[in-house]
Amino acid sequence: MAEEQRIVLRNADQINPAKLEDYLQAGGYQGLEKARSMSRADLIAEVKKSNLRGRGGAAFNCGLKWSFVPTDAEVSYVVCNLDEGEPGTYKDRIIVQKDPQQLLEGMAICGHAVNAKQGYIYCRGEYPYVVELLNLAIDQARSKGVLGDFNIEVRMGAGAYVCGEETALIESIEGHRGEPRFKPPFPGVSGLWGKPTVVNNVETFANLPQIVFNGADWYAAIGASTYPGTKVLTLTGDVEKRVFIEVPTNVTLREIIYNYGGGVKSGRRLKAVQVGGTSGGFIPEYLLDTPIDYDSMRSIGATLGTGAVFVMDETRDVVDIVTHIAKFFKEESCGKCNPCREGTFRCYEIMDRINRGRGTLPDIEHMIQLGKVMERVCLCGLGQASPSPILTTLQHFRYEYERKLIS
Ligand code: NAI
Repeated sequence: MAEEQRIVLRNADQINPAKLEDYLQAGGYQGLEKARSMSRADLIAEVKKSNLRGRGGAAFNCGLKWSFVPTDAEVSYVVCNLDEGEPGTYKDRIIVQKDPQQLLEGMAICGHAVNAKQGYIYCRGEYPYVVELLNLAIDQARSKGVLGDFNIEVRMGAGAYVCGEETALIESIEGHRGEPRFKPPFPGVSGLWGKPTVVNNVETFANLPQIVFNGADWYAAIGASTYPGTKVLTLTGDVEKRVFIEVPTNVTLREIIYNYGGGVKSGRRLKAVQVGGTSGGFIPEYLLDTPIDYDSMRSIGATLGTGAVFVMDETRDVVDIVTHIAKFFKEESCGKCNPCREGTFRCYEIMDRINRGRGTLPDIEHMIQLGKVMERVCLCGLGQASPSPILTTLQHFRYEYERKLIS
C-alpha cells in the first residue's frame, strides 16, 4: 500500500495548534530563518528549482510566479487564498486548523522573497473559528517576534464563490464588489491597490518551510517528477471511510479510494469520481489507475486543486447531480462577463429540462457547443471550469442523459 507522506500535515495531531511553543519545539520557523539568510534571488531560484506548483488548482510554478514581482517595487503584498468556497472541499481548513503557524511561516518566507512587509489571509466567511485561531497564532508570532517586520492580517469573505478567484479576492480585500479583473496585468505586477502582489493558496504556502529547510532537491524527488511533492486530499461520498490524507503525487485514484477509503460503501460498484470539487470533471471507473499529479489529471479532463475526491456509487444519478452543480454555477456567476452570465444560466436551463425528462437530442448538442465556447471565452476560472462536469459526463455517461430524453 502506498504510504502517506506528510509534509504539510507533519505536525497534525502532534502539536497543539494554539501554541506557538509547540510549533517551535517541532522545528518551526527554521525554514524562515534559513530563507532570511539567503538573498532574495537565491530564495526564488531555490523555490523555482523545487518545482512546487500552485496547490489552488492551476499548478503554476510558485517560484516563477514570485519572480514576476519587480525587484525595484517599493511596496508589494503577499496574499493567502483561504476562500475555499468549492462545495464539499475543506483541505485548506484542515491544514490551517492543524498547524496555523506553518502557514504564517510560509507567507513570511514569500514576504522575504518579494520584499513584502504586509500579508493578508483571505478566509471564507463560513470559517469564523479558523479566523479566531489564525488571529491567535498571529498575535503569538508577533509577541515572540518570529515574523520580524512582516505583518499579517486576516480578512473575511462574505460567501461569494467567485471571491476564490485571485483578482475577485483582491477586489474584495480592497472593499469592492468581488468581481474578477481582466488579466494581464497579473497580480504579480499589479494586484492589491495596484501594487505587485503574490497570491498563493494555503497548501502552497504551507509547503514552503520544509522546502526551504530541506532544500529544493529533497522536494523535487518526492512524487511525480512534473508535479512533485505531496497533495492533501479529502475523500468523501460513497466510501467506507471518509478521510483526509497527504500522499505523494504519484499515487493513483484507485489507491486512494481502496487503500485509504476502504473502497466503495456497502460493497457497491463505483460509478464515478469527481475530483477537485464541483468544477472538476467526472472520472469513470476505468480511469482510476491515473496518478493524481496535475498533468495526469489534466489528460483525463480533471484537476485536483481543491483536493476533494468525491466518490459516487452505482446508484447515483449522474444527470441529477450535474443539474444541481449547474444550478450552483448559475447562482454563483458574478455576471460581469456575458459568456458566464448567460452560459451558466442556459446550461442550467437545459440540464434541468433533460433531468425532468423533457430534453431532446439537440439540447445535448447545444450544451456541448455552449460548454466548449465557455471554456475558451469566459473571463475567469469560474465560467471556464463550469462546463467541466457537463462535458465530462456527456463523454463518459452519455447513455444516462439519453435515457432521460423525450422518446
Ligand atoms: P491561471 O492559470 O490563470 O493562473 C494561475 C496563477 O498563475 C495565477 O496566480 C496567475 O496570476 C499566475 N499566472 C498565470 N499566468 C501568468 C503570467 N503569464 N504572468 C504572471 N502570472 C501568471 O488560473 P486561475 O484563473 O488563477 O485559476 C484557475 C484554476 O483554479 C483552475 O485550474 C481550477 O482548477 C482552480 N479552481 C480552484 C478552486 C479552489 O477552490 N481551489 C475552485 C475553482 C477553480
